[in-house]
Amino acid sequence: MTKNFQIAIDGPASAGKSTIAKILATNLKYVYVDTGAMYRAITLAASRAGLSYEAEEEIIALLPKTVIRFEPGTPGQRVFLNDDEVTEVIRSTEVTNNVSLVSSYAAVREDLVSRQRNIANSQNVIMDGRDIGTTVLPNAQVKIFLVASVSERAQRRYKENLTKGMTTSLADLEKDISVRDYKDSHREISPLVQAKDAILVDTTGQSIEEVVSKITEIIKNNQ
Ligand code: CDP
Ligand code: CDP
Repeated sequence: MTKNFQIAIDGPASAGKSTIAKILATNLKYVYVDTGAMYRAITLAASRAGLSYEAEEEIIALLPKTVIRFEPGTPGQRVFLNDDEVTEVIRSTEVTNNVSLVSSYAAVREDLVSRQRNIANSQNVIMDGRDIGTTVLPNAQVKIFLVASVSERAQRRYKENLTKGMTTSLADLEKDISVRDYKDSHREISPLVQAKDAILVDTTGQSIEEVVSKITEIIKNNQ
């Protein structure tokens, strides 16, 4: 076991991981680490360098010169790529549709996993992603696997997008989420899978408050 406290939250797209993790991090005064934002930032870096997302070797060559930094923001967290704020642009459809490919490259994962472990080494963290409980923090004291039905996840993303003026249809969102679920669960390295010692929390039909309260209870029982 590690000296500091580590909470791992994994699960498929739009299960509520980052929403729940941010609230818990504020309540517990832990550092929140959004690992999906790191994979998204590398995907954006590839695009900005004019690379094809298939150009694995060139994307890998970008890694040593790619600095990803988080800063607290209101609300949530600001993300910087080489000192340029990319908080919004990493959520674009272009990045969303290509991030699963870029994150399937072994050297990309190795590099980001090492950055994530460094952050979690010396402070209390709550980290969300796909492989946190299985690969990044296998000794985390609390591991949650957060799920919800595909249709509910698409509805949640749809409502969120409307507030940002994005108009992708519900059917397209459902399709995009299913494709990403498939890619994330079937890749060779660190696929999305529930860790043996993770607690499954199905959030279908549950409000954010209900989920926060359920996970807070789980954390209390493990402290
Ligand atoms: O927020 P959303 O669920 O849409 O995704 P995200 O957490 O921002 O992650 C974006 C993508 O990055 C995922 O679909 C995965 O392909 C990849 N990812 C990963 O491979 N491993 C992680 N630990 C986190 C994200
Ligand atoms: O990080 P992840 O992709 O797993 O999901 P998210 O970005 O935290 O949540 C996607 C959307 O679902 C957000 O708009 C949340 O407000 C919403 N949500 C919800 O309606 N009910 C929940 N129990 C959890 C999240």
